[in-house]
Amino acid sequence: MSVHIAAKKGEIAKTVLLPGDPLRAKYIADNFLTEVKLVSQTRNIFYYTGLYKGKEVSVGASGMGIPSIGIYSYELFTEFDVDTIIRIGTCGAYTTDLKVFDLLNVEFAASESTYAKYAWEIEDDKLSHQGNVFNMINECANNSSVIIKPTTVHTSDIFYTKSSSIPAIAQKYNCSVVEMEAFALFANAQYLGKNAAALLTVSDVIPTGDHISADQRQTALKTMIELALETAVLM
Ligand code: HPA
Repeated sequence: MSVHIAAKKGEIAKTVLLPGDPLRAKYIADNFLTEVKLVSQTRNIFYYTGLYKGKEVSVGASGMGIPSIGIYSYELFTEFDVDTIIRIGTCGAYTTDLKVFDLLNVEFAASESTYAKYAWEIEDDKLSHQGNVFNMINECANNSSVIIKPTTVHTSDIFYTKSSSIPAIAQKYNCSVVEMEAFALFANAQYLGKNAAALLTVSDVIPTGDHISADQRQTALKTMIELALETAVLM
């Protein structure tokens, strides 16, 4: 049991899928896992452990933003001996080169956030995915003919803003999309020597306003969920 996760030691698998939304975690547990056990519901942030193709996997929510994923991923890595976290989420595209439903494997996350600096004295403003899980995801995608693009993302603290221009950090590193969590996950994993990846589905294209509707979101995420689970089997 940790401060924010009520599971007992041993109730969380070595590989954890981390969507932002607790109801998405429930959807994955209900539809993709067998022998599922709800192991934590502290703050309504659900964590489940079950089997996928015979392999034990946990799925739980990260919540939204750097502080939230910073807390959950740190506790998973340090209090539950988790080896690998795969974030599965959505992102907004800065460029019309990307379309809604495109699937991205995050190679680097760049951020203006001081999280890595003040938590771990990591001075870089661009962090890499950690360990071999990024490559495993690419391999799994190849094997099942799923098209996935490696990319550099902008991890932002801001969802609503008066500005309509692309932030300087995103321009500096040519970030194709914006989301709000990968940088903190990669920072924690880098500091702790763990595996971390982020799989993202483009949910909106910012310049055109094109977006996936709330109804479409659940099914749109199916390919990404299956890819993350197939990767978990190999970890
Ligand atoms: N900004 C930040 N995070 C996001 C967005 C966005 O536009 N779309 C999906 N996740």
